[in-house]
Amino acid sequence: MSKIRAAVVGLGYWGPNLARNVSQASADYELVGLCDKDEKRLGRIGELYPQTKRYTDVDALLREGKPDLVCIATPVGAHHPLAKAALEAGAHVLCEKPLAATVAEAAELVELAHKKDRRLFVDHTFAYTGAVRAIRKAYVDRALGDLFYVDSVRINLGLFQPDVDVIWDLAPHDLSILSYVIGRRVVSVKATGSSHNPRGFADVAYLTVEYEGGLQAHLHLSWLSPVKVRRMIFSGTNSSLIYDDLEASEKLKIYDHGVTFDVADVEARKQVLVNYRRGDMRAPALDNREALTTELKDIAAALRGGPLPPAMGEDGLEVVRVLEAAGASLAKDGARITIS
Ligand SMILES: NC(=O)c1ccc[n+]([C@@H]2O[C@H](COP(=O)([O-])OP(=O)(O)OC[C@H]3O[C@@H](n4cnc5c(N)ncnc54)[C@H](O)[C@@H]3O)[C@@H](O)[C@H]2O)c1
Repeated sequence: MSKIRAAVVGLGYWGPNLARNVSQASADYELVGLCDKDEKRLGRIGELYPQTKRYTDVDALLREGKPDLVCIATPVGAHHPLAKAALEAGAHVLCEKPLAATVAEAAELVELAHKKDRRLFVDHTFAYTGAVRAIRKAYVDRALGDLFYVDSVRINLGLFQPDVDVIWDLAPHDLSILSYVIGRRVVSVKATGSSHNPRGFADVAYLTVEYEGGLQAHLHLSWLSPVKVRRMIFSGTNSSLIYDDLEASEKLKIYDHGVTFDVADVEARKQVLVNYRRGDMRAPALDNREALTTELKDIAAALRGGPLPPAMGEDGLEVVRVLEAAGASLAKDGARITIS
């Protein structure tokens, strides 16, 4: 089967990772184009791929390079026009998170992909990691049981983004992990936060996200923490787990700890007895492949008629819905915003 002709647009911090992975996946892909409007960056990354054509303008890339797949890794504001141009030109698209800057833009891209019969993939990178796939398995197999709550801390010093606040930058990771793991939709969101930078964007934020079935997730997001923390807790009736993405070897620890409640007297609800269970902890072996390697493999399989990967345009749209609602809540000092 012929190789997928792929191009990467946006070669700042993240785009070079896409270019490297496309280039390494040479059984499935041919890197046919690199594009950045900044000539210096284009030159610096382009030097690593001397066989690949370079473009400063996406229209020239689409016209001359005729890629089958366009990977977009520009700031969020440029996602919609670039993805739209690529879909209009008949290419499939892999777009960075978040899919677009507004719900209207994201919905338009999803619709356009359907209309053009093209695939719109969203780079929800964590859905392709061994750790998050293992969490999903623990949830689906009921090793966790019913979830009490999910708590996430995603904080570090920077990187301040030029066009979005800390919620739009970091929450897509938590929201996409949760949607992949539990497969439920968000019902409402409350967001509070504060800004300590001259642009006035929130750089510290706290989100309470309510899912179907009443599950609550609490997300702490910050660009102003002296230390980096990437930790999620999934607390369940059967067991609980801690996912620490910064741990080198034991990213996932599953604790056979928990509580059960015995209602001694149903009439007198104060008589509830709490039984604490403290059992073993195990750290399952994980697939340690780089997420983008798995992701590009899954995308190649999908483009050849295989199953669709976990992060399609519709999933990207759902995340953007929550982000937009979080922005509305932030503006109303934490008011509960429902998502229809
Ligand atoms: N999946 C992940 O884990 C992950 C990690 C980091 C960033 N990202 C996402 O990747 C995207 C890019 O982030 P970044 O930190 O690499 O940004 P960046 O600012 O470092 O790089 C963006 C690049 O895009 C180029 N660019 C902008 N508009 C363009 C256009 N119209 N045509 C061609 N090139 C254009 C810029 O010149 C720049 O080189 C963002 O959407 C971000 O959310 C994802």
